[in-house]
Amino acid sequence: MDMPEPDVHEGSILVEAIAVGVCGTDVEIVEGKYGWAPPGQKHLILGHESLGRVIDPGSSGGFKKGDLVVGIVRRPDPVPCPNCAVGEWDMCRNGLYTERGIKEIHGFMSERWRIEPEYAIKVDPALGILGVLLEPTTVVTKALEQVGMIGRRSYWEPRNILVTGAGPIGLLAALSVKLFGLEVHVLDRMESGAKPELVRALGATYHSGRVADLKFEPDAIIECTGVGQVIADSIKKVGANGIVCLTGVGHGGVVTSAAIADVAASAVLRNNVIVGSVNANKRQWYRAGQTLARADRSWLAKLITRREKPENFKSALERKPEDIKVVIQFSEV
Ligand code: BGC
Repeated sequence: MDMPEPDVHEGSILVEAIAVGVCGTDVEIVEGKYGWAPPGQKHLILGHESLGRVIDPGSSGGFKKGDLVVGIVRRPDPVPCPNCAVGEWDMCRNGLYTERGIKEIHGFMSERWRIEPEYAIKVDPALGILGVLLEPTTVVTKALEQVGMIGRRSYWEPRNILVTGAGPIGLLAALSVKLFGLEVHVLDRMESGAKPELVRALGATYHSGRVADLKFEPDAIIECTGVGQVIADSIKKVGANGIVCLTGVGHGGVVTSAAIADVAASAVLRNNVIVGSVNANKRQWYRAGQTLARADRSWLAKLITRREKPENFKSALERKPEDIKVVIQFSEV
């Protein structure tokens, strides 16, 4: 669609889009399963994994023309609930939060967008296009922070972490866990190709079977598939005092035979925690930036497996088996 120039009320910083990452949430929105247009409007500009270049910093002191920036996705609810009031919009209690490109505010898939200075994150120019990986890295950073906080409820000496799913979230989780110096296992249904290679390049172990067949009990599982069977198997497989952190959003699927009272009994008797994690707060955005800065750039570059032009957005939204992260590229870095 031909849209008017973004309104100054959307933020004092004017940004030229460089790239926008496509993720499962975008596909769900396009399929009509998720997402909300701004009130009174019939369409939503997609895009929540942004990277852009400041063309006019407005009156904001901290930014200058040419800075590379990424936009924070979520905005606190207007009430605000106690969590939003303290800057934890990712933990919003009343569901009245908004999200750019997802819930009631336009996203970043336009040639120019605006952003409020407090929601713009500066990216190290040396990262170039890899800055588009910041938003998915924030999601992983929050999930791992949750696992760490839960783990420390008792003596916590994790040795091996299992990541289920070797998509962008799973691979960024594996990278982040590896940077903590822990043993990482990644499980995915792909048997060959870029995913196993990327996992091995991290010094992590790749598995392509079922979680149920693994020969060890992980201290924590970062579940990144949203697939019912994988989730059920993960809950059974995690070790005593273990944590299963759910980050994938799935629907339906196979009905598993896991009876809830049995799952609960096992969780009780082994002190297990099953925790869901979504979005990220500003501290996690900051830490995610540190993770990207410490990561091997050539490894990160291999996560972006396809770059499409904006006019080919339909192809960008199609998922091909060899895809890891597909980005729509609006301009050169
Ligand atoms: C985004 C998050 C968002 C979540 C739920 C994810 O795809 O990365 O920022 O909170 O969807 O809408």
